[in-house]
Amino acid sequence: MEQAQAPKKKIIFSGVQPTGIMTLGNYLGAIKNWVELQDDYHCVYCIVNQHAITIRQEPSALKKNTLEAYALMLACGIDPERSVTFIQSHVAAHSQLSWVLSCYTQFGELSRMTQFKDKSAKHADNINAGLFTYPVLMAADILLYQADLVPVGIDQKQHLELSRDIALRFNGLYGNVFTVPDGYFPKTGAKIMSLQDPTKKMSKSDENPNAFISILDAKDTIIKKCRRAITDSEAEVAYREGKDGINNLLSIYSAVTGKTIPEAEAEFSGKGYGDFKTAVGEAVADHLAPVREEFNRLMKAPDHLKDCYRQGAEAAERMARRTLEKVYKKIGFLPPM
Ligand code: TYM
Repeated sequence: MEQAQAPKKKIIFSGVQPTGIMTLGNYLGAIKNWVELQDDYHCVYCIVNQHAITIRQEPSALKKNTLEAYALMLACGIDPERSVTFIQSHVAAHSQLSWVLSCYTQFGELSRMTQFKDKSAKHADNINAGLFTYPVLMAADILLYQADLVPVGIDQKQHLELSRDIALRFNGLYGNVFTVPDGYFPKTGAKIMSLQDPTKKMSKSDENPNAFISILDAKDTIIKKCRRAITDSEAEVAYREGKDGINNLLSIYSAVTGKTIPEAEAEFSGKGYGDFKTAVGEAVADHLAPVREEFNRLMKAPDHLKDCYRQGAEAAERMARRTLEKVYKKIGFLPPM
């Protein structure tokens, strides 16, 4: 008798740039969700080193950061046995599909990308074409794997919408070639703000190290940074408009403890900001302690890491090649054989 087939798992794709140790923002906005999604989806996770060179990188630092980002991804709980984990430049299909998709993306669409405007203002001496076409490479990453869902922070929403538009346009011309992906955003933590200017996103490129928490910061550093966080002159731990600093700390506390915002507000009702900030720092540090330990262990096993990313690239390559061949056929590229 024929066995009933288990329903095919949906596909997840996401990536992170290796431009320094990931922040608490990267972790709560994206990686924490990546870990949770591994149970129910077929997950593909990538260290996007090709995206990183849109900003000038020192070669030896890029190499080191790429390995560390890969190790950190595993240390956060991504299991290379269950998920496909690899490094973008190891799978040539990303740049190959990116070229094709760039011919189906309008100049006007790319000009509207707020991240391009921000980054070109910040790096006025190097507004290269890659910085401009960055979202096309991101669309290629996602569409190559026929991803159904893309877990990211809110700052990537506009890029994700462009990926959808490109997929729909291509499908409209050639039939159903690409799965049209949906974004997947965390309930709390989709946008973690700077600790020094809570109207700005927490970013690892911030010049002030007190503005961000790195996933590998020591416990006392994390507590110190939280205690120095800019808040307001009231003395009420409440999530309310105009209290950006407190709102941010409440979101962080809620995301790492699993408590809801009202539960957190009740816990600190009547207490001062000093106690609250220390508690947030301690909760973050406790949550991240096992990640730091596992990272240190993995970095002592470079051969194991190499095996993992090599096998990951092979699995990714197989999935990507299928899509690329389909695309080449649809657009009329003469096959080599
Ligand atoms: P990147 O490397 O800047 O960030 C990696 C992930 O972390 C999220 N994130 C945040 N979430 C909440 N609060 C913050 N302060 C914060 N800072 C960063 C980002 O939203 C992201 O999910 N272009 C992407 C990388 C990429 C990608 C892809 C993502 C390349 N190709 C395909 C998904 C699918 C980027 O620069 O992320």
